[in-house]
Formats: sequence, C-alpha cells, structure tokens
Amino acid sequence: MSTTHNVAVIVGSLRKESFNRKMAHAVMGLAPEHLHCTIREIGDLPLYDQDLETATPPAPWQAFRDATRAADAFLFVTPEYNRSIPGGLKNAIDVGSRPMAHSVWSGKPGGVISVTQGMLGALAGNLALRQALAGVNVPVLPHPEVFVGQAATLFDESGNLTNDKTRELLQKYMNAYVQWIARNAKN
Ligand code: FNR
Repeated sequence: MSTTHNVAVIVGSLRKESFNRKMAHAVMGLAPEHLHCTIREIGDLPLYDQDLETATPPAPWQAFRDATRAADAFLFVTPEYNRSIPGGLKNAIDVGSRPMAHSVWSGKPGGVISVTQGMLGALAGNLALRQALAGVNVPVLPHPEVFVGQAATLFDESGNLTNDKTRELLQKYMNAYVQWIARNAKN
C-alpha cells in the first residue's frame, strides 16, 4: 500500500470563474486515493510586510502557514500576469517563506501547471514560478511540462474539463507527480 501524502494545491488566480481553479479541480480528480489534495486559499493574505512579523503575525498568515506546513507536497496551478506570476501568488510564497528558518516550503516536492486563455500556455509565468520555487528550496517536477493555452475552449458550462487530449496530458502529469512525491517527500 502506498504512503498517504497530503498535497496543498495553490491556485494563482483569485477570480471566481478562474480557468486555473477549474484545471486544479480537474487534476485533483485524477489523483490516486493515497494523495489527499486540498486547495489552500491565498486571497485573504495581507501583503507581506516584515514589520508585521511579530510574535502575533496576521491571523491569515498564520492559518496559511499552518495549513501548508502540514502538507507533504505542493501543486501550483497558475496563470501568467505580464510575463510573470500574479502578485497574490508571489505574496503567498513570501508569506510561507518566513520567519527565517521556519519556511513552510523548504525541501518539499512541488509541481507547476500553467493555464491561460492566450496561445502560449503561460510559459513565462510557469518558468518564473519555477525560479521563485528554486529560491525557497522546492524541488519541482521537471517533466512533463504542462502549459495549457486557449483554456476557454476546454471546459463545459459547469466547469468540467471536456477536452480528452488535455485530460490525457494531466493524467500523464499526475502519474509523474505521484512518482516525484514518492521519491522526494520526507515521509
Ligand atoms: C493577463 N493575462 C495574460 N496572459 C498571458 O498569457 N500572458 C500574460 O502576460 C498575461 N498578462 C495578464 C496580466 C493581467 C493583469 C491579467 C488580468 C491577465 C491573461 C490571463 O492569463 C488569462 O486571462 C487567464 O485566463 C487568467 O487566469 P484565470 O483567472 O482564468 O485562472
């Protein structure tokens, strides 16, 4: 029997009808039983300000840190904003990285999927996220890379993924991600 692993799924878009959120649900639906995936919200995190890093930091920071610290692995599903990642996602990475020596991220395996309504699969955002994750010591699954473009054509009105090729790619990704976690998780 495989070891149970808890995965914190982090969606880079805050938009209610976000295609990245829909994609996160689609990929979570392909996870094996021993992978427990939960979306950890980032929309209520106050902007990182080192002056707030006291004995009682903002409650949303603390809640996010506690939830992500309990995870064995991370899965990021993000759009690209202006050739990088959305500010809210970078803020979440910064919040999780502190206080110094208490980072929630360090040494735990990660995965990155990028989704856009545009043509280029949010390639620049995907690579920018990998760069930031290297800085907080999250080893990211190198391949397969998943850059999803034209996201508006892939879902039905209820938000279900209807594109078989994309589902196949996500399944391939999930299979590799499960192996990556098995190899790199601390437990
Ligand atoms: C975008 N978008 C965008 N798309 C892209 O492929 N490259 C880019 O650099 C940008 N830049 C950008 C900046 C800002 C401020 C916004 C609001 C949007 C488009 C964006 O990626 C697209 O709308 C995605 O579908 C957004 O993701 P969600 O919200 O659908 O998950």
